Amino acid sequence: MAFCAEAGKAHVYQLRSFKGELFAFKVFKQKFRTPNLVSATQNLRKFEHFPGLRAAKRQIVLPSDPTSRTYRNLEYAVLMHWIKGRTWFDVLGDARKNGLSIDLSTAILLCNNLLTVIEGLERDNIAHTDISPGNVIVDLNTHNVELLDLEDMYIPGTEPPPFLNIGSTGYRHYTGDQGVTCWRPEGDRYAAGVLAAEILILSDPSLANSMTDEGFFTTHCKNHQGALRYNQAERLLKRIAPGFASVFDRTWRAASLQECPRILDLREGVRELAGRLIESHPLRRQPPNPPVRWEPLYGDKTVKSPRGYAPAPPRPTRDETLAAWEALFNPSQTSQPVRSSSSGKPIAQWGESATPSRKPQGGGGSDSYAGWIAFIVIAAILLLILIIASLE
Ligand SMILES: Nc1ncnc2c1ncn2[C@@H]1O[C@H](COP(=O)(O)OP(=O)(O)OP(=O)(O)O)[C@@H](O)[C@H]1O
Ligand SMILES: [Mg+2]
Repeated sequence: MAFCAEAGKAHVYQLRSFKGELFAFKVFKQKFRTPNLVSATQNLRKFEHFPGLRAAKRQIVLPSDPTSRTYRNLEYAVLMHWIKGRTWFDVLGDARKNGLSIDLSTAILLCNNLLTVIEGLERDNIAHTDISPGNVIVDLNTHNVELLDLEDMYIPGTEPPPFLNIGSTGYRHYTGDQGVTCWRPEGDRYAAGVLAAEILILSDPSLANSMTDEGFFTTHCKNHQGALRYNQAERLLKRIAPGFASVFDRTWRAASLQECPRILDLREGVRELAGRLIESHPLRRQPPNPPVRWEPLYGDKTVKSPRGYAPAPPRPTRDETLAAWEALFNPSQTSQPVRSSSSGKPIAQWGESATPSRKPQGGGGSDSYAGWIAFIVIAAILLLILIIASLE
């Protein structure tokens, strides 16, 4: 294990396979270990191949697994691919502490890719419900954008999670302060607009160092500080992305999430502006998940969490992690794969070819011992026949 972050609902551990591939193991805090996580995992299957939703491909530890009966804290923990890049939270931190800013073309491509990912959800009437710096990963080289923290997504026709998001500070529409939640198809409109604007603002070094852990705007239009910061950014946005700036102005001032312009409209302004830049840097799709063998990697490096706290968080012991491995990847020792309670269909397995084994390749399993014994016996018989033949 090379990484551990404590966030609001969970501790997230970075794990490494035999092949060196990285995975994220999200162990929920007790309050958030709820049965709806099973159906949430099932519901995410449909979106595994959406751009920006690689984290939707995951496997869950069921309460019926022997592991979670022994180690209660692993109940409902999920294993998913480790997403490469930096959280937007980390980028904001770099801007604040080290004066990082990004060039305009990077800003435009990132902004466009973020809106493309979220527009992909909007097209299916789904919403992430908590677009915020800790839940967005960007790659400043490839401009790829991925979303994390997908358990509470709004998907029409599905049960709402037990704790509904009202949005994170700095990305929350002011009606969120009155309790309006983002559990609706328009749930991402405001937060996505704010984060997209912030990406463009990061291209201006004089504004970049005003970034905070809660973004550039820090609050909404009904707050003096929010209005002040909007005024600071408005001129820049109008200059570098006039189409986006006028749509974002409506987002910023909208009286409700429903009245915020669609993500599609926000994106048009950036797309127009980006022009040839976008053509030469299309949103990269990640390759399909390759077959892997799994192995926990132990270590003790703890990385500060996006929420800024993580003093030696409790983590699964070596035995717990190994037991989780057994339960997840050794079907003969687990009760069954994750199943939908109603249909009984497997719902959350990695691809067939990815079915892993904890043992390294060529490791002495009982099958290979039997092979060796058979080989020795046959060789001995042949030798005996040769000796007898030569004596005659
Ligand atoms: N698949 C992943 N790949 C890379 N990093 C990840 C992954 N999943 C989580 N992380 C890291 O762990 C952090 C916390 O993850 P996540 O947002 O899922 O936890 P959470 O407890 O649900 O968060 P919140 O505080 O928003 O409720 C992320 O900000 C990111 O740094
Ligand atoms: Mg999160």
